[in-house]
Amino acid sequence: MTKNKKQEWNSNLAFMMAMIGSAVGLGNIWRFPNVLYSHGGGSFMIPYIISLFLLGISFVLVEYAVGFKFKKSIARILFSIKTKLEPVAWFILLIVFLITTYYVCVVGWDLIYIVLSFTKAWGSNPDIYFANNVLHSTDSISGIFTIVPNVLISIFIIWLIAWLIIKRDLNDGIGRVSQILLPLLCLIVVGIVAFSLTLPGASEGYTQIFTPDWSALTNLDVWLAAFGQIVFSLSLGMAIAMTYASYLPEDSKLVDNALIVAFSNSGFEIFNSIGIFSILGFMAVTSGIAFDNLVTEGSGLAFVVFPQVFNIMGPAAYVIGPLFFICILFAGITSVIALLEGVCYSISEKFLIERKKTATVVCIVGFLISAIFATGIGSTILGIFDAYLNNFALLFAILLECIIFGWIYKFDDLIDTLNKNSNIKVGKTWKIVIKYILPFCILGLWIQGIYSTISTADGLSITIMAILTVVILIVPAIFTKLPAINKDYYKV
Ligand code: PFF
Repeated sequence: MTKNKKQEWNSNLAFMMAMIGSAVGLGNIWRFPNVLYSHGGGSFMIPYIISLFLLGISFVLVEYAVGFKFKKSIARILFSIKTKLEPVAWFILLIVFLITTYYVCVVGWDLIYIVLSFTKAWGSNPDIYFANNVLHSTDSISGIFTIVPNVLISIFIIWLIAWLIIKRDLNDGIGRVSQILLPLLCLIVVGIVAFSLTLPGASEGYTQIFTPDWSALTNLDVWLAAFGQIVFSLSLGMAIAMTYASYLPEDSKLVDNALIVAFSNSGFEIFNSIGIFSILGFMAVTSGIAFDNLVTEGSGLAFVVFPQVFNIMGPAAYVIGPLFFICILFAGITSVIALLEGVCYSISEKFLIERKKTATVVCIVGFLISAIFATGIGSTILGIFDAYLNNFALLFAILLECIIFGWIYKFDDLIDTLNKNSNIKVGKTWKIVIKYILPFCILGLWIQGIYSTISTADGLSITIMAILTVVILIVPAIFTKLPAINKDYYKV
């Protein structure tokens, strides 16, 4: 991404760690157990595994093949395929960037909880503490004019950390940080899971994962939830795999790599949920609340349910609590830097701005947008951003990518690219998945997403969604229109 030098991973390990780090994030630690919990426990695993193989891995392979073949940023790749497609790339990147602005805020909340967990400062009512003392949330729109200093500071710290990593050279920044944080993360998770299995009531919890409710298999919602989790967890369609694969050396084994990354990511979330379910089992037994009623909604509950658990855990919570929140921090940081890399790469390649300057501008603009989430009404706006961007905009972007790479681009070239050095080969079935099955499934998820977003929309969310729609239509058009400084940019 520097002016003249072409970037390349210095080892396959650096690439793999960065890829796994990009996939393992908040989605694995909290979202997966939550989705698993609310969609039939064990039976959810069947649609989940089918979605992983059939759709998740298939799409990751597209991103790998495209990035590796073109060795360019997504903006330039789409321009090369068809000049008119450039705005689609900026559209995808803008969605990714906006997702990052609120993702950083959740990691920021987590930072606050690391500090709180050393003294269990949330007291006996963690839900009230979260709303009143951490978020200072209000329902009134006037809340937009009040800043919550602690949240703002923590958001600033996360952006600062992201900037410090992303501004460095690829191997020195993302490569090195992923190789440090990921093993640490795994070590902590192994420790937490081992400890949680010793808790009274643990088996109440983890057996749920392995006890199928077969009736759930006939429920379309369960299939869509499983597929939605794969999209989120593997960070599909966010140009991350495409960007990282473009930095791979010529002799890389793409299919083998993709499979290792996908299995590691799913292995991580399944292993981690054994711990989470054991802890919930412990809570059910200790509090007398039925297991099914422990968690009622939403991913923000990582900051409510877990403090409740730590309250009844005794002294061990002073160690397990901080470790749990540190896990979320590490997983979050490696995902944030991955989300930003594709955005910085495209800007830097088109406008020939060096890596450090691009990272600085992107992080400053990102921080200013994230500051909205540090207002009194910030968590409500965050929920609206999340619903709109994940349930609607991102799925639309993936649909476009399936059409572009499956239908417009010469797909067979991608098969050759993938199979060239790989031990495991892909065949024509892959083509059918990308051309027909995946778009169909995405469409299902998309319609469901629109329906659930619209059916719960109120005045504020309609206004914010309307603003976001205008932004995601206008900004990509501007970026496309701005002339490239890099004259090679227009060489197809
Ligand atoms: N896959 C990562 C996670 O599970 O947290 C990163 C990520 C996914 C970030 C989806 C943002 C997002 F919307």
